[in-house]
Amino acid sequence: MPEAIISPSVLASDFGQLTAECTRMLKGGAQWLHMDVMDGHFVPNITMGAPVLKCVHKGVPGIFMDVHMMVSNPERWVDDIADAGGALYCFHIEAASDPISLIHAIHKRNMKAGVAISPDTPSSAITDDIGALADMLLVMTVYPGRGGQKFLERCVPKVAELRARFPEKDIEVDGGLNPKTVHVCAEAAAQRAPPPASLLLAMPQGSNVIVAGTAIYGADDPPAVIQTLKDAVNTAQAKAQQQPKEKNGNGVENGH
Ligand code: DX5
Ligand code: ZN
Repeated sequence: MPEAIISPSVLASDFGQLTAECTRMLKGGAQWLHMDVMDGHFVPNITMGAPVLKCVHKGVPGIFMDVHMMVSNPERWVDDIADAGGALYCFHIEAASDPISLIHAIHKRNMKAGVAISPDTPSSAITDDIGALADMLLVMTVYPGRGGQKFLERCVPKVAELRARFPEKDIEVDGGLNPKTVHVCAEAAAQRAPPPASLLLAMPQGSNVIVAGTAIYGADDPPAVIQTLKDAVNTAQAKAQQQPKEKNGNGVENGH
């Protein structure tokens, strides 16, 4: 069962104090830091690139940089981000001409590979081959490009579809996540014919990696928000694990 991971988005932090802003999140219980790289082409904004990430990596020992590449030609930056200390390189499928080769190139540089889909991209854009090769799948719940947008609940079924196809993968959600909106993502389960009870046993629920910028950095007590988000994922997974104990293969309650 993929573990609950909270990845605060530094887009909502004070960029003038970036290393301190990352350090306080790690001290506050976050496992990853979500670094939003924007190039002014794939999305209208420009944020930061490899030189900045390199400084953060140097200034924050042990940081796991979950690098969200909102860029055109994602092939172009693999080496630079690897050299800067990136741990996970997540590219947008809409921007990639050859996703399989790109994933291989990312792995060759010892980074995990993530594949992101924007709100208008169907989950089927992540083919079985791409999904099997990737380490993480990212379902955007806002249009990429800026923080502080409203959560788009219509994207949640894609989390369920991908979870049904890839039970053991890290599935990340990003955009408008907070202690209220996290639940539908963490609990997302596909509305389709139930799998055999044996499969149900190992079936985790929706997303297990939660990105949040505004909700964490804008909070009075960021560690409390991190804990709440983590609890939401763990509770959803615990509920999913209970299912086979409550019902046998015929859908009949055990012990009756
Ligand atoms: C949006 C970015 C997100 C963003 C999330 O383009 O990919 O990571 O920072 O910010 P919030 O949590 O404020 O929606
Ligand atoms: Zn992001």
